[in-house]
Amino acid sequence: MRREVLLSTLGLRAGYGGKPVLQGLDLEVREGEIVAVIGRNGVGKSTLMKSLIGLVPAMDGSIVYRGEAIERKAAHKRARLGIGYVPQGRDVFPRLSVAENIEVGGMLKREVTAADRERVLGYFPILKERWSQRAGTMSGGQQQQLAIGRVLVADPSLILLDEPSEGIQPNIVQDIARIMVELNRATGVTVVLVEQNIDMIRAMAQRCYVMDKGRIVAELDRDALADGDAMRRHLAV
Ligand SMILES: Nc1ncnc2c1ncn2[C@@H]1O[C@H](COP(=O)(O)OP(=O)(O)O)[C@@H](O)[C@H]1O
Ligand SMILES: [Mg+2]
Repeated sequence: MRREVLLSTLGLRAGYGGKPVLQGLDLEVREGEIVAVIGRNGVGKSTLMKSLIGLVPAMDGSIVYRGEAIERKAAHKRARLGIGYVPQGRDVFPRLSVAENIEVGGMLKREVTAADRERVLGYFPILKERWSQRAGTMSGGQQQQLAIGRVLVADPSLILLDEPSEGIQPNIVQDIARIMVELNRATGVTVVLVEQNIDMIRAMAQRCYVMDKGRIVAELDRDALADGDAMRRHLAV
């Protein structure tokens, strides 16, 4: 059975100061998929993620989520529709504690229950250990787990994850990949993952879009992800 399309873009153009970075981008993500978006530095991957959540306005084209055009909606409204965004560089609040950061993530929900918190801490037990610690004093890997946990507490249907492996030790990268796959299997949450780390892409993604100059230029299935030379060519590493 083919699953329903959860998110699609058609001819999406978006950028900065009137200049488009995304040059008419088309993609389609189905419920429960984990889809990676790869491409060299500067091709517009982060701009795509910001445009999907509403931090960079669409100049043209559409973004459809659960059958509804959302490209004119404000970011907080898209978040309330169940889209969670974990930015590149994580952006946790460094002077707030882990608990307070999670609290902020939960503000999207009418009520964050103890069960919501326990659910997140079940996936990321390190956050329980560090509950009262200031986020800025934790390692990159711990901050990344907090950034994901902060989004998870609001129980999203779609998670936009921008380069979670950046600046993180390889063993923690594998931990995060494993947890995200578990979460996907257990809850059916859909994930769009921007990544350059081949190990993380392979550990998580079911298929992959290749971006160049603001467009999707190729689509790779699971078998193609296993082809090391092809992957390195697309990532230019
Ligand atoms: N805030 C910004 N203002 C102006 N240009 C930007 C801004 N952010 C990114 N860009 C430009 O947009 C292009 C795509 O950047 P980005 O989406 O961050 O690429 P990627 O995530 O693939 O490395 C780059 O040329 C970059 O310099
Ligand atoms: Mg980026």
